[in-house]
Amino acid sequence: DWTMAGFRAEAVAKLRAQVGGGRVVCGLSGGVDSSVAAVLLHEAIGDQLTCIYVDHGLMRAGESAQVVATFRDRFNITLVHRDASEMFLGALAGVTDPEVKRKTIGRLFIEVFEEEQHKIGGADFLAQGTLYPDVIESVSATGGPSVTIKSHHNVGGLPAGMRMALVEPLRDLFKDEVRALGRELGMPEEIVGRHPFPGPGLAIRIPGEVTREKADLLRLVDTIYLDEIRKAGLYDAIWQAFAVLLPVRTVGVMGDGRTYDMACALRAVTSTDGMTADVYPFEMSFLGRVSARIVNEVRGINRVTYDITSKPPGTIEWE
Ligand code: XMP
Repeated sequence: DWTMAGFRAEAVAKLRAQVGGGRVVCGLSGGVDSSVAAVLLHEAIGDQLTCIYVDHGLMRAGESAQVVATFRDRFNITLVHRDASEMFLGALAGVTDPEVKRKTIGRLFIEVFEEEQHKIGGADFLAQGTLYPDVIESVSATGGPSVTIKSHHNVGGLPAGMRMALVEPLRDLFKDEVRALGRELGMPEEIVGRHPFPGPGLAIRIPGEVTREKADLLRLVDTIYLDEIRKAGLYDAIWQAFAVLLPVRTVGVMGDGRTYDMACALRAVTSTDGMTADVYPFEMSFLGRVSARIVNEVRGINRVTYDITSKPPGTIEWE
């Protein structure tokens, strides 16, 4: 009989066999996949593992601190935290095309990662939290010529200069199975149950040019939205919820005055693997409450919309 405890034991044995006495680096993103991969690897090979967290400055509010606290303090995993936000924002200045944004972030991510990996003296293996849907979505499920819809920055192999073997312990799993494995490994619910978050972070939730000011504004909106979702007890019923900062200013009225500020969109979907998704049917009263809080509490936003597009034809992220 297949059980998660059995999978865990087998995965640990396989990792030990694959890695031997070698050293492994793992890129941590704060998301479920890389987190579970890291903890599983740590169980298998202990101090032979070093995690590198490249902080692009486009995380949600408070997330970087949480990643560091969880892995370093709670799991005792060797963790390098590199704050590279200046670099990323600098490289993104003036960039508006979604694919160029993704590629810019992907390229820089690899550059910074390699730098840190050299600093720790190199490694024999590179671990990634690649899941089964990542594999098929980037290879094309039909086996026909694949159409690249978005260049995911966590799939696609190694850059030419990196001569390391890949370790992908989650390659056969779907998201719900990764979560079950995380629970089996004793990981806290706030990591295991966390909504997916894209590698390029908030950059792809800011159509148009990304600036620090816009990212800060979006973080405020996002925090309020997720706070209300948690308070309403809806977090676990939703696959993914987030805000998008729209590159448009609209007219509003506040007190006796006219405002001319930015708009945002809220998105929430249900899904089992991210490949298809349905819009989450919030009560209007909930949306009204969130909208009122955002417009009242976030200076610079005067309009809130709700994205009602399913996938397909929409994608989950806006870019
Ligand atoms: P889309 O927007 O293509 O997203 O419908 C499907 C799922 O993938 C996540 N996503 C990413 N995850 N790196 C990631 O690790 C990426 O570059 C990336 N782009 C999208 C998205 O959040 C959704 O869960």
